[in-house]
Amino acid sequence: MFKFEFENYEISDGNLDRALNSLLDKDLGFYNLVDRKDEHKNIKDFASSVDSKFDHIIVLGIGGSALGIKTIRDTLIVRKDRDKLRVIDNVDPDFIYENTQDLDLSRTMFVVITKSGGTSETMSLFMNMKKAVIEKGLKYSDHFVFLTDPENGLLREIAKRDKITTFDVPQNVGGRYSVLSAVGLVPAALAGVDIDGLINGAIEMRNILLNDYESINLCYQMAEFQSAHHKAGININVLFPYSNKLKRFGDWYTQLLAESIGKNSEVGLTPITALGSTDQHSQLQLYSDGPDDKIYQFIKVDKFENNTEIAVDMEDDLIADKFDFLEGVGFAELLNTALKGTMDSLKERNRPMMQITLDEVNAVNLGGLFMLYEGATALLGELLNVDSFNQPGVERSKVLTKEYLENKNA
Ligand code: PA5
Repeated sequence: MFKFEFENYEISDGNLDRALNSLLDKDLGFYNLVDRKDEHKNIKDFASSVDSKFDHIIVLGIGGSALGIKTIRDTLIVRKDRDKLRVIDNVDPDFIYENTQDLDLSRTMFVVITKSGGTSETMSLFMNMKKAVIEKGLKYSDHFVFLTDPENGLLREIAKRDKITTFDVPQNVGGRYSVLSAVGLVPAALAGVDIDGLINGAIEMRNILLNDYESINLCYQMAEFQSAHHKAGININVLFPYSNKLKRFGDWYTQLLAESIGKNSEVGLTPITALGSTDQHSQLQLYSDGPDDKIYQFIKVDKFENNTEIAVDMEDDLIADKFDFLEGVGFAELLNTALKGTMDSLKERNRPMMQITLDEVNAVNLGGLFMLYEGATALLGELLNVDSFNQPGVERSKVLTKEYLENKNA
């Protein structure tokens, strides 16, 4: 589905068979989400039934309950339309004010996303938005939709009591693997995104992901590339998309890689995201001349929507003298040539790297990227012998925060 190539990568992990078998023995919820056809229809029907009623869709969620939809929004919705879908994923009071003070609540739908149904940040936001809606004299159940565990948790109880439309976050899918569940699809559909494209791209990738065992498979190669270098002490992963639309994908992947693999003092890959060509002018010095402790994943886009040419004024001697090499060149060509320049300069330093090439940025390819990175990360966990589906460190912080506030009020 995507073109890919590796550079300066000769070592092999050698444990692929064992890792793959052990992964396939697990209950891989994320892998099967794309088959939930009835749910996809329900989501689309729900979105079209409320479409004319709301000007703003406001997601209240955090971490795995927010990063996926932010990525979908920033990748697939053009800037001028993006404001329809806001994601409040922090409890910074100024950020909350900024995102809510101008809303016409009678034309606003709140999407509350919490798998556990009890995350303090999300539930606090829910309480305040519910109060604001009720104070405006509106029927609160008309302005809220919940996404939570099918059976458990406080939000599920509230949903039943207050008769709120609710979609399930499957129990066998963790937050950071949930973007292709209702967690990503409901707000995306409400904002008018082509969710069929996302699902079809993910299906296409899923069908080769852990199946096409004998041939060269990007998922296996990516996981092996990361694990073999990790075992050789190279523990920093730089994701370097050359596309502004894909910058947010780096935030989503940061969580996926950090939370899935960082499990003990011996195992973890530190994720960094850089945007090309912008960050050539801020980070590349480190990558070129700094420590050889990183692997690089470049993402290239072949075709951009706009192919504006650079307007070199050949009649202006000062300009023509210095920039005649840009005559007839488009911005896309400049960007992708900068990518080649960066890769070649790092090749000269023997930096290990891979490149994935997309024909263009669209819903199908984004769905495929989500599935690919989820599959490769789950497999990487097996190669490194860690559980890539839990997050004990995140839970601990939630418990402590609650404890401190309880003690303060005691
Ligand atoms: O990946 C994870 O599990 C976390 O980042 C959670 O998504 C985050 O803590 C939010 O949890 P919840 O959806 O239960 O509110």
